[in-house]
Amino acid sequence: MRGLLLAGGHGTRLRPLTFTGNKHLLPVANKPILFYGLENLARAGIEEVGIILGPIKEGIVEAVGDGAKFGLKVTYIHQPEPLGIAHAIMISEEFLRGEPFVVYLGDNLLKNGIESFIKLFEEKQSDAVIGVTPTKEPQRFGVVEMENGKIVRLVEKPKQPKSNLALVGVYVFNDSIFEACKKIKPSWRGELEITDAIQTLINMNKKVDVNFVEGWWKDTGKPEDLLEANQLVLQELEPYNKGSLEDGVIITGNVVIEEGTVIHRDSTIRGPAIIGRNCEIGPNVYIGPYTSIGDGTKIVGAEIENSIIMNNVFIECNRRIVDSIIGNYSTIIEYEKNRPKGFKFILGERTFASI
Ligand code: TTP
Repeated sequence: MRGLLLAGGHGTRLRPLTFTGNKHLLPVANKPILFYGLENLARAGIEEVGIILGPIKEGIVEAVGDGAKFGLKVTYIHQPEPLGIAHAIMISEEFLRGEPFVVYLGDNLLKNGIESFIKLFEEKQSDAVIGVTPTKEPQRFGVVEMENGKIVRLVEKPKQPKSNLALVGVYVFNDSIFEACKKIKPSWRGELEITDAIQTLINMNKKVDVNFVEGWWKDTGKPEDLLEANQLVLQELEPYNKGSLEDGVIITGNVVIEEGTVIHRDSTIRGPAIIGRNCEIGPNVYIGPYTSIGDGTKIVGAEIENSIIMNNVFIECNRRIVDSIIGNYSTIIEYEKNRPKGFKFILGERTFASI
């Protein structure tokens, strides 16, 4: 079986974070989102993966290379405009045709991986397997309506959902999906929708089976999803310390500290939290639960909780920073002597600040 991992799209809902890069490279627990997908594909025994590169492709090839570090052989497939998930499948036909394959949306995280999808596909001799899970906000997703264990209808982001079953971003298909993709027309938003393609498979009397996904599933479309994904992954953190701790440092809970990092005196770190390489944390810093700090970051005086602080950030203040996502090379400082007194910002387009 081959894999197709989608890493295209514009990532508009994650702006401004996606103005400077591809959303699939944003870190969750200090690892690019995309890597979780590649690891899940490799763990399921898949060896060859096509990666869809969209309009913001910078960094992906540098990060993934030929895939060898994941035990995969990676082929890149270009999709200049995000014309839909079904479109991405269609343009990959040459790479995929001939054997069943897994399609994996690169911004999706699944606690239990994808083996259950493949197992069901093989056991039931399906033409397609889709994954569903109950959600509180079905209107954000493709919604699957079912009756007596059978799919009745699939609707993309319905305003008034008739079911709470969201379509998870992992699918197993055989070649019949190409025919279905060719039959559908672009939706009102100009995309070839995967929901329409699956609905077409059903109308073609193909065997579409449903995998009820167990364990958490997270689609990282919006900034708050990124923070929630960070929490979910950090909950399973295996602690270790490769850095050095000065006197008076208190560490509780599951905490990872990478090489070259120094935690300066009188700082407290309460896990789950991860701190990358070559950081300087402290003196007098509090890092609270569900915080990820990238490499080369320096934090003095501040309290930080439930946040993603990326690489080479500098924070020096006596304030508490919560529920925040801070991009690479950002600076947050407090000048006691600053006159006139007030908040000073240099914010890029579509930045969000809460004071
Ligand atoms: P979406 O989240 O629907 O789209 P997006 O990533 O462009 O985000 P936004 O809506 O905020 O602009 O895409 C789901 C996944 O599929 C994501 O990993 C990107 C990928 N994708 C493609 O690779 N090609 C496409 O044509 C589309 C629509 C999505």
